[in-house]
Amino acid sequence: MKGFTIAIDGPVAAGKGTIAPIIAKKLNGIYLDTGAMYRCVALHSLLNKVDLDNSKEVEKALSEVDIDVTQDKFFLNGKDVTHEIRTKEIDLLVPKVAGITKVREVLISQQRKIAEKTTDRGLAFVAEGRDIATKVIPNADLKIFLTADLKVRAERRLKQKEEKNKSLDFEKILESVINRDKEDMQINKTLVTNPGEYGYFILDNSYLSEEETINKIIEEMKKRGLYDKN
Ligand code: DC
Repeated sequence: MKGFTIAIDGPVAAGKGTIAPIIAKKLNGIYLDTGAMYRCVALHSLLNKVDLDNSKEVEKALSEVDIDVTQDKFFLNGKDVTHEIRTKEIDLLVPKVAGITKVREVLISQQRKIAEKTTDRGLAFVAEGRDIATKVIPNADLKIFLTADLKVRAERRLKQKEEKNKSLDFEKILESVINRDKEDMQINKTLVTNPGEYGYFILDNSYLSEEETINKIIEEMKKRGLYDKN
């Protein structure tokens, strides 16, 4: 029997990266962080000084990029880049890379292949990003739009940074979250602003704990016959 698919989209720091792998684990399925794939292309471009305004150079770079994904590691042309793709430099470069049509075409096609391979093996596929339910797997069995208030998301981001012993001031983080939203929704237009019109189950987890968020998703999966454990 074919496996099913769950798409989790939403703005930056809404909790997708925490929630999606937990859902995949509960389903004994496969989790895919699509943002990390854009980060791999950004890292390759940075290391090879690719001129992102030159489409020939971008196409050449794409043909040289081999991204290999395991559940918690990313390999770029055979090298483990799991940590390298999370630096501030990459944070700044990746929106530009994610805005290039050719890059999106190539990565979306790879993401669809991973989804197909996974469901052909009878496993559940849980992917998170911005355009999973609108472009990558529009026929996903469950489409979740995970969101939270701007200030709550900025506070979460601040906490993550503090845990890594980085002291950053709240106003700066808030500004970067506002910029990210602008890039995702207005510049790159990868994230819809009207999720209700795309059949998403909209989950605002501003005032929900991680466990409460997971439980809400499990309820939705049960409604659709995708989860039968207690
Ligand atoms: O979720 P993240 O911060 O790791 O995403 C990195 C970048 O990639 C960010 O600019 C949004 C973009 N992205 C995208 O355009 N489409 C996706 N499916 C996932 C991420």
